[in-house]
Amino acid sequence: MLKKSINAIIFAALALVFIYCGAAGGSTEPITVEKTSEGEVSFSKTIAPILKDHCIRCHGDDPKGELSILSYEAVMKGGKSGNFVVPGDPDNSRLITSVEKTKEPFMPPRIFPALTPDRIQAIRRWIAEGAKNN
Ligand code: HEC
Repeated sequence: MLKKSINAIIFAALALVFIYCGAAGGSTEPITVEKTSEGEVSFSKTIAPILKDHCIRCHGDDPKGELSILSYEAVMKGGKSGNFVVPGDPDNSRLITSVEKTKEPFMPPRIFPALTPDRIQAIRRWIAEGAKNN
């Protein structure tokens, strides 16, 4: 019994260290914005990796809010409330308002590192450029 709870405590402590070291996703390192040959921000090389890094923990398999970020199609479909990505209109896209924390829900939840301004800027630009599968 005692041994079991000690194991549980050790497990919880390790899990916390893991989360706080960023190993569980949500890096704050500067990113390289990869562009397509048209000079636009690339979904596959820049946006998808950012979403996977920060959102996949809860919006991958069995996604929260019915919002999956596992593919371009899933991102464009969005979650149960819609308007996740409105091509050409970042200010009305929940993807932007959630990470800029201007409109609920604020994402990712605050125990995880917020997106750095360079990441948000890249996503903004990709949406403004039409949110293409590029
Ligand atoms: C630790 C878990 C967690 C992480 C990480 C996370 N989310 Fe969420 N998210 C949730 C939960 C839980 C909900 C459901 C809230 C609800 O349905 O009321 C949600 C809902 C949402 C919604 C609303 C969906 C809808 O249509 O109703 C958006 C938008 C969203 N998340 C964006 C993001 C983005 C973008 C990221 C990554 C930058 C992210 N989330 C990371 C837990 C998370």
